[in-house]
Amino acid sequence: MKHILMENNISPDDNKKVINFLKTNPRLTNGKQVEKFEQQWSNWLNVKYSVFVNSGSSANLASLAYLRTIYQDGEIIVPPVTWVSDILSIFYSNFKPVFVDINLHNLAMNDEIIEKAINKKTRAIFLTHMLGLNGLTEKLLKIIKKNKILLIEDVCESHGAMFKNKKLGTYGQISNFSFYYAHHMTTIEGGMVCTNNRTIYEKLRIIRGHGMLRESKDKIFKKKIADKNKKINKEFLFLYPGYNLRSTEINAIYGQNQLKSLSKNNYKRTINFNLFLENLNKEKYFIDFEVKGSSNYAFIVIFNKPFRNMIFRKKFEKTLTKFNIEFRRGLAGGGNQTMQPYMKFIKKKKIIGQLKNTNIVHNYGYYIGNYPSLKKDKIFKICKILNSI
Ligand SMILES: Cc1ncc(COP(=O)(O)O)c(C=O)c1O
Repeated sequence: MKHILMENNISPDDNKKVINFLKTNPRLTNGKQVEKFEQQWSNWLNVKYSVFVNSGSSANLASLAYLRTIYQDGEIIVPPVTWVSDILSIFYSNFKPVFVDINLHNLAMNDEIIEKAINKKTRAIFLTHMLGLNGLTEKLLKIIKKNKILLIEDVCESHGAMFKNKKLGTYGQISNFSFYYAHHMTTIEGGMVCTNNRTIYEKLRIIRGHGMLRESKDKIFKKKIADKNKKINKEFLFLYPGYNLRSTEINAIYGQNQLKSLSKNNYKRTINFNLFLENLNKEKYFIDFEVKGSSNYAFIVIFNKPFRNMIFRKKFEKTLTKFNIEFRRGLAGGGNQTMQPYMKFIKKKKIIGQLKNTNIVHNYGYYIGNYPSLKKDKIFKICKILNSI
């Protein structure tokens, strides 16, 4: 048996679309196809505006760079179980990451600890919806509203997941998606920043394009700024600290075609995930995830308490290796980010309380591939192997 983390999810049809497009000898830099993909994505998610960037990490960077246009400094509440770029985007934008432990049932930050972590300097909660699970609660939305802070949703691992009757990525003022090939859909590399706010949208467009004013679509705003800066050529007016985060027309064509199958593929993956959980040994493995509205792209395996030891861990990894089941320890980001060597470069940081659950997934949490083409039989086989350990 062989079970890899992710199959090649670029289809012959995707490639055909790109080849046909190339035959028209188009200009390939960020242009009409990117705009078309952004519009289609906004319709799919049900937001007003989307900005296509070259990775999910770039989406993270752009969001925090937006925040930097409002605040010079301050604190951002973030989980220690996330992707490295969530934390580095906070660092690069001169904010202080404040780490809050996660829950095991949704792998997102604990509301009560978030509430304790909020103070006058808190600018935003940068929430990660891990591995297709919803990280939002009514309580958290109330806390955010009461404290008048921003919510940025990292939905890079949870395309199509829902909270109540709305997709994740529509609750925050800003939301981030990744189209890295291992995720729910791909543009080879790519990401999206989404918002319902016109001002945020214009700023994100500017930040994506070197911070240049001409990237804005708002003519009145552009004229106002240009008039204020008469000594500067308005074509090269760098308004905010920005980056070059643009993607290309080719990636956008992949995105347009992949998007057509996204919901259908998510549905298949959700069925797979539920089947996987149903067949896991409940004594050995934690299965009490809040799966309502979830949109999973990787099976989650966390050892239950009596099995959280090195002997079982070694056996587990040896068995999976023997049966050619590819796995990653520490869920999708390596587990506890605060233990990583790069942290020594981040002098301004705060950890609230103990990171108990974070350390559980760091040491005893795994993910295994879940893709739409996966057959029932294979899921049964994987579970049988895991249960035999
Ligand atoms: C939660 C989360 N945020 C951000 C990213 C970054 O996305 P990308 O790999 O497209 O840069 C990832 C990565 O895969 C992720 O899992």
